[in-house]
Amino acid sequence: MKKIFVVGILFFAVLLISMIDSCKVSQKVSMKSGAQLWAENCQRCHNTPSPSSFSPEQWETIGMHMQTRALLTEDEKKKIVEFLKQ
Ligand code: HEC
Repeated sequence: MKKIFVVGILFFAVLLISMIDSCKVSQKVSMKSGAQLWAENCQRCHNTPSPSSFSPEQWETIGMHMQTRALLTEDEKKKIVEFLKQ
């Protein structure tokens, strides 16, 4: 009888952990990398510009310009520009 109780607790714990885990996954979506955001957003209107096509200073300006066009948040723009500057 005790065994069933322990197994029940274990089952519940595993269920709870997997629920908490799936929450973490959905948080990760909003924690996309600059490279990911760049690939997903910048090719909607034109070919994705390669990081080497412009200087870091130019990327700063382009980032601001394309932020308004691509409707990016400040956070997303920063990540993309950081990635392109590398
Ligand atoms: C809603 C459409 C749209 C999106 C999304 C967009 N762009 Fe643009 N982009 C344009 C248009 C239109 C131009 C050309 C006219 C201009 O500069 O305003 C342009 C021009 C550029 C240029 C200049 C190209 C050159 O050869 O002079 C760069 C670099 C650029 N975009 C980078 C990006 C990056 C990086 C992103 C992603 C953050 C992005 N764009 C997202 C519409 C877009």
